[in-house]
Amino acid sequence: MADFKRIAILTSGGDAPGMNAAIRAAARAAIANGFEVYGILRGWNGLMYGEYKEIKMRTVSNIIHRGGTVLYSARSKEFCTEEGMQKAIDFCKANEIGGVIVIGGDGSFRGARDLSERGINCVGIPGTIDNDIACTDYTIGYDTCLNTIVEMVDRIRDTSESHDRCTVVEVMGRGAGYLALNSGIAVGAAAILIPEVEFNLQKDVIDRINKTRSESDKRHFVVIVAEGCSAKLREQGIDGVSGLARYIEHETGVESRDTTLGHVQRGGSPSAKDRMAGSEMGAYATHLLLNNIGNRVIGYQKGEIVDYDIVEALNMKKTINKELYKTAVEIAI
Ligand code: F6P
Repeated sequence: MADFKRIAILTSGGDAPGMNAAIRAAARAAIANGFEVYGILRGWNGLMYGEYKEIKMRTVSNIIHRGGTVLYSARSKEFCTEEGMQKAIDFCKANEIGGVIVIGGDGSFRGARDLSERGINCVGIPGTIDNDIACTDYTIGYDTCLNTIVEMVDRIRDTSESHDRCTVVEVMGRGAGYLALNSGIAVGAAAILIPEVEFNLQKDVIDRINKTRSESDKRHFVVIVAEGCSAKLREQGIDGVSGLARYIEHETGVESRDTTLGHVQRGGSPSAKDRMAGSEMGAYATHLLLNNIGNRVIGYQKGEIVDYDIVEALNMKKTINKELYKTAVEIAI
């Protein structure tokens, strides 16, 4: 068992439902083993400027079902500088913090790597709605977000159907198409555009809609577009989802609208899956630190919880499931 007095927990980058479950589990596992816990506020900024609250067993009561993060989150440029990092190291040393748990995405893990290299043990927990972290099949927040998208698009479909319209829906995901692909399948989208797969708007969207209209009485359509597609759309002369809706209307005659779901996707009470993932990963991260193991990122591989060297984790590549994409195309419309 480690000989330091306390650990720190922080959330960094975009928040994600289930982060609170991870905070709660990480803190309680530490306290149960006789360690003290500081909840660092607003990500790396809090570690540099000593903004924290002490977490006791009951401090984290009644948060497992809440979206967002009770520790608040931020993206910090200053922490990436040598001076910023030194401030964080000084704070950890002055407060006998022997390990830091960082819940966030790749950007947050780069900070954890740098801090680990300077002697402060860090463990990363993947928390992002995007599911774009290579070392893990699953990131905390993804399931809740996916379900939110499905619920929202089901509502859009109601009105789209009533008005014989095509609705183009932009979903989040940064540069990744996991949310778009999986939500697109789950809502029965007519077309799904993701950055990982080349697409041709005429063939993959317009021709499909026109064919369906000529062969059936279907008059409403939903097209799901990952936000990461904007550059590819621009290459085809289209300015975002509003431009795509105008283009579809012009080329098919189907009245079209666009909706960007935005940050509604990131909030809300976490699903059971995200509460479970947060709880399991949170406790696991603490156990690593309490055994003096740092510079690790946690993940799930084929349902098993695993951990990797942060540098190794950051160098891994994640690919989209092309077979699933083919299936999506095959069963669309
Ligand atoms: O990484 C999570 C995420 O929601 C992305 O899907 C999105 O591109 C980005 O964060 C939005 O960031 P912000 O909340 O800073 O606008």
